[in-house]
Amino acid sequence: MSTTESRVPDEVAAILARCDLDQGRLDRSVFRDRAVYELELERVFARCWLFLGHESQLPRPGSFLTTWMGEDQVLVVRRRDGGIGAYLNSCPHRGNRVCTTEAGTARGFVCNYHGWSFGLDGALTGMHEAQAYARTPDFDRARLGLTPVAQLDTYKGLVFATFDAAAPPLAEYLGAFTYYLDVILDNDPDGTEFVGGSIRSVLSCNWKIAAENFAGDALHAGWTHASGAQATLGRAVPDLSAEGTESYQANVNGHCWEFNLDAVGNAATLHEPRVLEYLRANRERFRDRLGDVRSRMVGSISSVNVFPNFSFLPGQNTFRTWVPKGPDRTELHTWVLVNRAAPQEVKDAWRKGAMMTFSPSGVFEMDDGENWELSTRSAAGFVTRQQPLHYALGLGSRVPRDELPPGELPGNVFRGQVNDANQRAMYRRWSQLLTAESWADVPPDPDGEQP
Ligand code: FES
Ligand code: FE
Repeated sequence: MSTTESRVPDEVAAILARCDLDQGRLDRSVFRDRAVYELELERVFARCWLFLGHESQLPRPGSFLTTWMGEDQVLVVRRRDGGIGAYLNSCPHRGNRVCTTEAGTARGFVCNYHGWSFGLDGALTGMHEAQAYARTPDFDRARLGLTPVAQLDTYKGLVFATFDAAAPPLAEYLGAFTYYLDVILDNDPDGTEFVGGSIRSVLSCNWKIAAENFAGDALHAGWTHASGAQATLGRAVPDLSAEGTESYQANVNGHCWEFNLDAVGNAATLHEPRVLEYLRANRERFRDRLGDVRSRMVGSISSVNVFPNFSFLPGQNTFRTWVPKGPDRTELHTWVLVNRAAPQEVKDAWRKGAMMTFSPSGVFEMDDGENWELSTRSAAGFVTRQQPLHYALGLGSRVPRDELPPGELPGNVFRGQVNDANQRAMYRRWSQLLTAESWADVPPDPDGEQP
């Protein structure tokens, strides 16, 4: 499958030239420009590994869900052989959507328009008025199945796919970031699952503003969410940049994790005692499995973005994708992740707490949306968008490897979670992908920031 079809338009090259990430400057048109957006669909979303779902959503042959890879809708299916397939959810006949529901169980899929039918493996299995096709020369059923993704793989329960056959394998794409992912995905030998159901909502913002918020914006937490924290914690968010606070930003290949080591700070905002009891009661087990440093990250004040658009919050355990719907529109899909072996009351408490905080009516989710919408909207102003944005917080804060705990915290690590280091790394990766002709031109790790 070819995923590159154009060169970088002059307009996009000019916008990228006005961004200087080494100085922490970003041009506002990256959130507004249609040509930038179209190039993102081609060179970011049709090229990167994207999150499709959790294996627990596809428990048996015929289980399926529909989701988005960029603006391409895909149908993700547990096949009869037990493997997972993902196909464009568009009929090869005239393009109609083949599956119109979000999730369920099926023996196959029948297109609503002219009745072409497809198996769980995506193959064309039958047609309405089949005799007419039988008389049609060279009608080759075998070539008219649903178009599959180029590569699909899983990492500890999470299912990812890419449209680009030349993309590096998922293990290489994630790289050393798996050290951090295991904090949430592998703190228990029985693994994780999504609780049933998901929530979709729409934001009038650019997808990157949401992604960068989760990549590294600890700065907004105590300010934007001050009243939410009062409501759930009964006190303000602690000063995250206070002297002596042990906190970091870390990134690998543009994947970002900002965190401190307080063990339960995020989880506490759920206002669910059962969740805190669970985390505290299992602290020794987490330490045995993950070591001391990571055991203190399981529920800590932290946020994560797996490049490009898959985010989650450890502790609150809201998992989400920012699905692009145009430069100034983002569809948010959210799920709640729990340890499979956790007691049902703990799972229920986690789901309830996540809904109280990070759902469309959640106290924290509501705080963020308006800021992101107005940040996007301001770039519409001709004069306003000539003014660069500030991403310079924490320049020069990289921690030399020999000052980190031995064998811990791989990747590019920066002192202090109140920092823009991760956002700079995310935009470096983004910019490198936009200008690269193919994966062969993408450097292995974008973070060239010097100490
Ligand atoms: Fe699907 Fe015609 S569009 S059968
Ligand atoms: Fe927020």
